[in-house]
Amino acid sequence: MKPSKLWSKDFEPDKMIERFTVGNDRELDLRLARYDVQGSLAHIKMLESIGLLTADELEKLTVELRRIAEVIENGDFRIEEGIEDVHSQVEFMLTDRLGDIGKKIHSGRSRNDQVLVDLKLFMRDELKTIAASVNNTFESFQRLSEQYKDVLMPGYTHLQVAMPSSFGLWFGAYAESLVDDMEMLVAAYNIANQNPLGSAAGYGSSFPLDREMTTRELHFATMHYNVVAAQMSRGKTERAVAMAIGSIASTLGHFAMDVCMFMCQNFGFISFPDEYTTGSSIMPHKKNPDVFEIMRGKCNRLQSVVNEINLLTANLPLGYNRDLQLLKDIVFPATTEIKDCLDMCTFMLEHIRVNRDIIDDPRYDYLFTVEDVNRLALSGVPFREAYKTVGMQVQHGEYKPNRSVHHTHPGSIGNLCNDKIRLKMQKVMERLN
Ligand code: ARG
Repeated sequence: MKPSKLWSKDFEPDKMIERFTVGNDRELDLRLARYDVQGSLAHIKMLESIGLLTADELEKLTVELRRIAEVIENGDFRIEEGIEDVHSQVEFMLTDRLGDIGKKIHSGRSRNDQVLVDLKLFMRDELKTIAASVNNTFESFQRLSEQYKDVLMPGYTHLQVAMPSSFGLWFGAYAESLVDDMEMLVAAYNIANQNPLGSAAGYGSSFPLDREMTTRELHFATMHYNVVAAQMSRGKTERAVAMAIGSIASTLGHFAMDVCMFMCQNFGFISFPDEYTTGSSIMPHKKNPDVFEIMRGKCNRLQSVVNEINLLTANLPLGYNRDLQLLKDIVFPATTEIKDCLDMCTFMLEHIRVNRDIIDDPRYDYLFTVEDVNRLALSGVPFREAYKTVGMQVQHGEYKPNRSVHHTHPGSIGNLCNDKIRLKMQKVMERLN
């Protein structure tokens, strides 16, 4: 009978134990399959270079691994019943086709560094895809900021009418905020972009592994030199990724809240065509912002991912522990969800409608008090006196706003600096390679 475990000896593990320990790892591991093959291709090339495989064996293994890669890309790869994980499946497929040669591939490697290398490659790719989505959303915010730079809206502090703001400033703020999130993403990318392969079970190997070579082969920026540090990076890399995701989620969640509020009839600042809103089963008039409510909820939840990771990994002893497997459960869905939220946000921004006449409403008269104080101050009245004069007008109900605004300093409504913000984004994005 074919052994179903890489670690099979002369007993079969209890079925209950197996179900509990494997959990849904087989399903999650499908997302790692292509990276597992990439890692193995680099590993065997290195094994041949240090004399642990012959050139002929390398050739046969390479052909077979490439064939498996094709099966994966075609979507036909399966982890068979009873096989624990992707690493076992690939090795069994090789052994099935190549016999003893397949059994040589695991020299100088453990599933501990194998899963690590898979995860690093996976996270590196996921971060790049997320970055592309962030950049699309950034573009939309910038475009809208330019398009509506002359349309004023109320600015609030304490949720009380405060000073004139503009749609240019509002949209532009989210664009620039995404630049900061991208900084976090680049940091996570740099942490992921280090080669753990060769750390084996976590303590290296007595084979003279050429780790520089696998680092080059897998296009890592550098390696995790210390093999224990390499093992410690499991959880640490995921934490960095979760922080980046959380950071993006906080920006997006904030925007989603603004949209829900500004769509409310009491504000009436923005709207969407009917087909992008949702209705009520009882109230015939409803056009609800469910998209942004779901986005807000998802983004709030995504910010807790880092907490989950912190709790899962708190106080683990040094070296590999099986708890680490559960990280996949937490991180994999999060990478998909943040992408969904970003793409949905970009989609909705295509259709957003802006109310251009908000400011004419007398309820916003007081937005202009500071403008009037400043005008007086510019004409020579000391600021405190100008403040008092306008303050008394307000107090006695005699205030009449002058609605013209003239803001010129960088970052203000009259000088958004969107081109400078764009440049900042480009520079951060360039560091992703
Ligand atoms: N599925 C395992 C994980 O994700 C693979 C590594 C198994 N290693 C072990 N020593 N049991 O962690």
